[in-house]
Amino acid sequence: MEDRRFAIRTYGCQMNVHDSEKVASLLEDAGLTAATGEAEADVLVINTCSIRDKAEHQLYSDLGKLRDWKAEKPGRIVGVGGCVAQQVGDRLLSRFDHLDFVFGTHNLRRVPAMLEGALEGRRAAWVGEDKSQARFDLPTRRPELPTGTRRKAFVTVMEGCDMFCSFCIVPSTRGREISRAAIEIEAEVRQLADQGILEITLLGQTVNAYGRHDVRRGNAAGAGTMPFAELLGRLDAIPGIERIRYTSPHPLFYDEALIRAHRELEHLCPHVHLPVQSGSNRILEQMRRRYSRERYFEILEGLRAARPNVAITSDLIVGFPGETESDFELTLDLVRVAGLVDSFSFKYSPRPGTGAAEMGAEVPAEVSQDRLERLQVRQKNQTLAYHESRVGQETLVLIDGPSRRGGHQLAGRDPHLRVVNLDVRSNLPISQDIPVGTLVPVRIVGATPHSLLAEPLDPALRPESGGPENAGSRLKSAARQADETDGVDRVGRAAEDALRVI
Ligand code: SAH
Ligand code: SF4
Ligand code: F3S
Repeated sequence: MEDRRFAIRTYGCQMNVHDSEKVASLLEDAGLTAATGEAEADVLVINTCSIRDKAEHQLYSDLGKLRDWKAEKPGRIVGVGGCVAQQVGDRLLSRFDHLDFVFGTHNLRRVPAMLEGALEGRRAAWVGEDKSQARFDLPTRRPELPTGTRRKAFVTVMEGCDMFCSFCIVPSTRGREISRAAIEIEAEVRQLADQGILEITLLGQTVNAYGRHDVRRGNAAGAGTMPFAELLGRLDAIPGIERIRYTSPHPLFYDEALIRAHRELEHLCPHVHLPVQSGSNRILEQMRRRYSRERYFEILEGLRAARPNVAITSDLIVGFPGETESDFELTLDLVRVAGLVDSFSFKYSPRPGTGAAEMGAEVPAEVSQDRLERLQVRQKNQTLAYHESRVGQETLVLIDGPSRRGGHQLAGRDPHLRVVNLDVRSNLPISQDIPVGTLVPVRIVGATPHSLLAEPLDPALRPESGGPENAGSRLKSAARQADETDGVDRVGRAAEDALRVI
C-alpha cells in the first residue's frame, strides 16, 4: 500500500475529528502518507455525522460528486465511516456502486485491512459492536511534533451514550456507554505531555458520566475506572499539561466533587460547555433530559461559586415537537438568566427510530426558522457584551495558526475557549515569527461578536508602527500552504480551529 496517499473528510463532533485522527494514524502505520489535498489523494475516507437530517444528506451529495473524482484516476478508493455508516451499514454499498468500503464507529481498526481488500477488488462493510476495552487501543497520533505545530490534543475517556434523549440518534450510532481504563488515559496524557502537548480535551458523549456504571455496581476497581472528578485530579497532576478541558458533559452528572474540581484543579479551564437544549421544563421532560431549568441554574451557581470567571456555553434546540411560543420564550429567557457567553442553536430535525420522531405535533418550518433567528440575535448581542466586558483584561492565548482574517494575524484560544486574534510583528526572527503552539500573554484590545482582538504583552512580538502592509513572510507562506492543501489538515479540519459539536 506504500506510495498511496490518503485524505479524510470529517463531519460532525470532536469525537469524529478524533476518530479521523485515529484512522489517519492507522493508515500511516500501514505505510500510506497524508495527501496535501483530495486532488492528490488515492484514497478518500469520509467520516460522517448523522445528528440532523442535513448532516446525513451531506454524505449522499458527496458520494454523488465522487463518481467523477474516482473516474479521474484509476485505482482510487472511497471509504465511508462514522455515524451514517453505523446507521445505514452495507445498504450504502448496494446504493453506491463506486463505494469500496464502509466501517462503523466501533470498527476503525479494520480500516487498513478493508483498504487492502478494496485494492484487490473486495468491497466490504463492518458495523458490528465492540464492547471491549480493545476499542480504545488505537494509535492516536504521529510520535514527533515539529516546532510550529499546534499543541492541543483530544483524549477519549468514554464512548457511547445510554441517555436516549428523545430527539437524539447518538445512542444508536455510538452504542452503549463504555469508559476507558484510567491507567490507559493517564498513560496517553503523559505521553502527550512528553511530546510537548499543552492542552488536552477529554472526550465522551456524556463525558462526566465517566465510570458511573462501574462505580454504581461497586466495580470501579475491577474495571479500572473511577468517578470523573477523580480522573480530572489525576490528569491535573501530570507535569507539562497546562490546560484541561472536557466535552460534552451532561447536567445530570454534576456532583459536588466535579464542582469542587473547578475550584481546586489548577489546570482545569474556566469554561464549561453544558448543553441545556431548552428553557422549558415541559419540553425538557418531553426531551427526556432528566433535569429541570432550576437544576441547570443550580449547577451554574455552583460552578460560579467555585470559579467566579467561568464562561458557560451551551447547545439549544428550537422547534421540538409541541414547543409553544411560551416554551420558546423560556429558552430565550434562559440564555439571559444563565448568562450564556455563547451557544450553538439548532432547528429540531426528526431522526429515524427516535421517540420524538413519533410524537407528531410538528412545529411549522417557518416558525422554527423565526425562533432560531430570534434566539441567535439574542445570543449574538450577549456574546458581544461579554467580549466587550473583557476588553482591557490580560489573558493567555494558545496559538493555533494564522487567523482566518489574513494579514499577519494569528488566532488562538484563551482559557475560556474564546477565539482571540492577535497582530504580531512581521519581521521577527524565524523562530518567533509564528509562535504556533505557544502560550502568548496578551492584553485584550477589541471585541466582535465572534472573537476578541488582542495585543501581545511582549513588545518584541507587537506589530511595528509601520502597519499591516508589511505582512510577515513566514505567516503568508503558512497561509498559502493552508490554501494549497484545501485549507485543511490531514483529518479534513480547517486550518482555523473549528472546534465545535455539530
Ligand atoms: N451529548 C451531548 C450532545 C451531543 S449532540 C449532550 O447530551 O448534550 C450535539 C447537539 O446536537 C446537541 O446538544 C443538540 O443540541 C443537537 N441535536 C442533537 N439531536 C438533534 C436533533 N435531532 N435535531 C436538532 N439538533 C439536535
Ligand atoms: Fe444524545 Fe447527548 Fe442525549 Fe446522549 S445525552 S442521547 S448524546 S443528546
Ligand atoms: Fe455522530 Fe458526533 Fe454526529 S456522535 S451523529 S458525529 S455529532
